[in-house]
Amino acid sequence: MWTLRIFSLIVSLQYLSLAADSVQQKFIRGPEDKTVILGEDVLLPCRVENKVGMLQWTREGFGLGSDRELIGFPRYTMVGNDEEGDFSLQIINAQLDDDAEFQCQVGAAEGVKGIRSKTAMITVTVPPEPPKIVQGPFLLTTAGKSVQLTCEAHAGKPPAELSWLGGDGDVVTTNTEYETQELNDGKRANAILRWEFTPTRKHHLKNFTCRSENPALKQPALTTIRMEVKYAPEVKLTVFSESIAENDDVQLTCEVEANPADVIYKWYRNNEIIAGDHTTHLLLNRVSREYNMNNITCEASNSVGNTKSTKTLKVLYGPKIKTFTDNIAADIGGEVCLSCDADGNPNPEIAWLHEESSSIVGFGPQLVISDITPKKAGKYTCRITVPGFPEISTDVMVYIKGPPTVKAKPVQYGEMGQKVEVECSIYSVPSPARITWTKNSQVVEIDNTHGYEIVTQPLADGVRNLLIIHNAEKSDFGTYNCSVWNDFGHDSMLISLKRQEHLPTLIVIAGVIGGIFFVVSLTVLIILCLRKKSLSKGKEFGSEKQGKPSDTVSSRGSDLEVEIRTTSSLPNDNDRCWDEASDTGTQDYHKYSESSSRPPSVEIQRTNGYGPYMDYAARTPGVVSRTSYYVDETGFLSSRRQQGHSNSYIGSSHPDLLLPQRAHVSSRDRMYSPTFSSQHYITVLPSQVGFRTDALATNV
Ligand SMILES: *[C@@H]1O[C@H](CO)[C@@H](O)[C@H](O)[C@H]1NC(C)=O
Ligand SMILES: *[C@@H]1O[C@H](CO)[C@@H](O)[C@H](O)[C@H]1NC(C)=O
Ligand SMILES: *[C@@H]1O[C@H](CO)[C@@H](O)[C@H](O)[C@H]1NC(C)=O
Repeated sequence: MWTLRIFSLIVSLQYLSLAADSVQQKFIRGPEDKTVILGEDVLLPCRVENKVGMLQWTREGFGLGSDRELIGFPRYTMVGNDEEGDFSLQIINAQLDDDAEFQCQVGAAEGVKGIRSKTAMITVTVPPEPPKIVQGPFLLTTAGKSVQLTCEAHAGKPPAELSWLGGDGDVVTTNTEYETQELNDGKRANAILRWEFTPTRKHHLKNFTCRSENPALKQPALTTIRMEVKYAPEVKLTVFSESIAENDDVQLTCEVEANPADVIYKWYRNNEIIAGDHTTHLLLNRVSREYNMNNITCEASNSVGNTKSTKTLKVLYGPKIKTFTDNIAADIGGEVCLSCDADGNPNPEIAWLHEESSSIVGFGPQLVISDITPKKAGKYTCRITVPGFPEISTDVMVYIKGPPTVKAKPVQYGEMGQKVEVECSIYSVPSPARITWTKNSQVVEIDNTHGYEIVTQPLADGVRNLLIIHNAEKSDFGTYNCSVWNDFGHDSMLISLKRQEHLPTLIVIAGVIGGIFFVVSLTVLIILCLRKKSLSKGKEFGSEKQGKPSDTVSSRGSDLEVEIRTTSSLPNDNDRCWDEASDTGTQDYHKYSESSSRPPSVEIQRTNGYGPYMDYAARTPGVVSRTSYYVDETGFLSSRRQQGHSNSYIGSSHPDLLLPQRAHVSSRDRMYSPTFSSQHYITVLPSQVGFRTDALATNV
C-alpha cells in the first residue's frame, strides 16, 4: 500500500517537475451513447491527458474498480495502455445489465482536480421472439362475420413494431389496435397487434402476414395466417343472346362461385319455380311472346346461404291485333271512333288509311272521324307495323245510316213440286226494322204446314232474304214483293217467280234424237256408197278401201259429241243456270285460273261504294268446296280451293246450299258480325265471276 502511494506520489512529482506548475487532467476522448444488440460487444472510449488521479468507470453511479481487469465484472475490461492514457471500457456479450449509464472518472491529486466524462448511455436492444398469430396458421371463417386477428411478439427491447399485411401485401391501417406489456425486468416488453375485420369472399385462400420489426432484428420477422372464407354463392346470370325473337330458343347460364362449392340451383319464372331438373343452365325452347318482360331468376344455395340473380327477358315479336272495332254505322254529321289495338315488341306503330284517299288519315290505336259525310264513309284500314316483322292490317267499314235498298233478280224460276227459293238482297244501315214478303198484296206468313220458310242471312251491311217454298204448287208462282223498312225509310222490289220449263232437258233429248237420226242416215248413206264402189272396182283393193270409211265414221262421231255438248250448254245465256250448275262453274273457273296462271278480275257487288265481301268459311263449317282468293304477303292474288260451307251467294235453287242460319239473330250480329278474318279471304263467288265462265263456255 505504501509502496503504491509512494509510487503515485513519485509519478505526481514527476508530473509536477515536468509540467512545472499544475497541469490539469483532460479527456482526449470520452464515451458516447451507444446501442448494442444483446450479446454483441461494445467499447466505450476514455482517453485522458495528464492523468494524475485514479481512473475508474461507473455504471449507474457505482464504481466498477480501477484495475484494468475489473474483477467482479467478467465481461468488462479496461483496454488500452497507460502511456496513451487509454482506459476504454470493453463490454463483451452485452446483456440487459449493461443497459445503463456509464461514466469515466479520474480522481483528483495535489493541485489537480478530478474530472468526469459525460454520461454515456448504453442501450441494449433485444430482438423479440418470433411473432405468433394467436389464431394459428389457418382460420376458417364465414364471409360477413367479423373476426379478430391477433399477432404477438414477446420480449423485445424496444417492444416489436407490429403490422398486418393484407392479402395484397399492403399494410393494414384501419381497425388495428397496438398494445405493449412490459416484462418484469422493466426492460423488455411484449407487443400485441389486433386487427378486426370482416372477411369477404375475396379473402378466401388469402394469406395475411404479421410483420415484426425491432432495431435488434436485422430483418423483419414474418408469420402468416391463411384464411379460408366460406361464402354464399355469388351468382352471375347471363342470357346467351341479348336480342330474342319469338320462337327462339333461349339459354340462360348461372355462373356461380361459392365456398363450399356444393351448390343447389333453382330456376324461377316470375317467382314461380320452373318444373324440371335444375342445373347451371336453363334452356327455354321456342319462347313465346308471353315471355316478354318475364323475370327469370337463378337461385343458388350452399350451406352458407342463397343468392338470386334475375334477368328480365325481352322478346321481340310481330304485331298481333288485340282489339278492333266492328264495322260501324254512322249518322251523317256524326262522329265515330274506330279503334284498333295491337300488341308487339317493339311497340307497334298504328296507321289508319282510308280507302277513298288511300292516304294515311291518322295514327295511333284510335281514330276519331267527326262530321261524317258520305266521302268519309267506306273502308278504313288499320295498318300495324313492328320493325323487323311483316306488317298486318285489318279493315273496318264505316257505313252511313240511310234508307234501305233492295236488289234482286226481277225474274226467278222454280219447278213445280220442288223446293223453290225466292231471293232478294237487302242493304240497310242501320239494320232493317222489318222485312216482309208479300204476294198479291198479302203478307206471306211463315207457315210450316203450308211449307213457307223465311231465312235471312247476314251480310256485312245488310241481309240476304230468302223465301223458301217447299213443294211449290201452281198458285205459288206469281209476283212477290220483297220489302224492307229501317229507321230511315223503306224500299221494295217485285220479283216474278216463274215456272221453269225444263228447256235444257228438252233440247238435250231433241239433240240426242236428232244425233241418232243423223248417224243412222249417214251410216245408211255410206253403206250405199260403199256398195256402189265395191261393185265398180276390183275385189283385190277391197280391204284397203274398207279402212277409210271407218275412219270417217269415227271422226264424224267425235264431231257429234262436241255438238251434243255444245247443245247442252246452250241455255247458259240465262244467268240462273249458273246457279244450277254452280259446282261445275266453280271447277271450270278453277281450271281456267290454273291454265292462264292469272287470277281473274274479281267483280264485287257494290252498294254505297263498298264491297260486302266476307269470309263465311270462318264462321260456319260446311260441305261444298269453292274457290277463294286471298291476298298473300307478296301482294299477289292467289287462288286456292277451299273446303267451306256453301255460301249464301251460290245459286238460289241449289238444294244443298241452305245455311242453318235463321232469321232472328240479334240485329247487331246480323249487321256487324265478325267480318274480316286476319287472313283477309276474299270469297269469290261463281255468280260474281259468271261473265268469265260465260266467256269460257263460248270458247268451247
Ligand atoms: C399462403 O401461405 C401458404 C403457407 O402458409 C403458402 O403455401 C401459400 O402459397 C401462400 N399463398 C399465397 C397466395 O401467398
Ligand atoms: C320483374 O322484376 C321487376 C323488378 O324486380 C318487377 O318490377 C316486375 O314487376 C317483375 N315482373 C314480373 C312479371 O314479375
Ligand atoms: C210492296 O209492298 C209494300 C207494302 O208491303 C208497298 O209499300 C210497296 O209499294 C210494294 N212495292 C211494289 C213495288 O209494289
